[in-house]
Amino acid sequence: MDAIALLTRDHQEVDRLFKQFEKLTDRAQKSKQKIVMKIIRELAIHAAIEEMLFYPAVRTAALKATTRAGQKAADDILEALEEHHIVKWTLAELEKMAPEDERYDAKVTVLIESVRHHVEEEQEELFPKSRKLLGKELLEELGTRMEKAKKIAPTRPHPRAPDSPPGNLVAGTMAAVMDRGKDMVRSAAQKMMRSRADA
Ligand SMILES: [Fe+2]
Ligand SMILES: [Fe+2]
Repeated sequence: MDAIALLTRDHQEVDRLFKQFEKLTDRAQKSKQKIVMKIIRELAIHAAIEEMLFYPAVRTAALKATTRAGQKAADDILEALEEHHIVKWTLAELEKMAPEDERYDAKVTVLIESVRHHVEEEQEELFPKSRKLLGKELLEELGTRMEKAKKIAPTRPHPRAPDSPPGNLVAGTMAAVMDRGKDMVRSAAQKMMRSRADA
């Protein structure tokens, strides 16, 4: 699968989770939190592989481009990084909030709005430009690397961490180890709670 197809598939998966959230009634606190946790994980991994692999590849090609549209992609990447930055702060806040919080739903709504805006810009503008800049072969190769990177990327938002190479490659690897450790502890705790509830 090429890089753009892979990222588009991620976007669709996240939007599916957004729609699930939007369908819930106000009182469905437990389901809300479950879906939001999934959204946080999906978006953290997605942002990480864009920042580690896709964006740097596009930006490098854009800076060397001879066409105006190609050159503009370099600025699009900077804008995309700023949008990621805002999204990551929102995700980090949501991670610590309970659905009972008065501002929980509002925060999720704003998150959904900003992600939809960002995704639209990527799909309508950045991806077509990237397709021209990178070409079929490079996109295939990037796709393969991104598919692998998804399995070892950070699973939580790190708004304070560097978001471009080489800083993010180093910090991202460390963060991923820590995140995945925490995920394991959490799922073990949940399993224990469930088995207690069954007993
Ligand atoms: Fe993005
Ligand atoms: Fe994206």
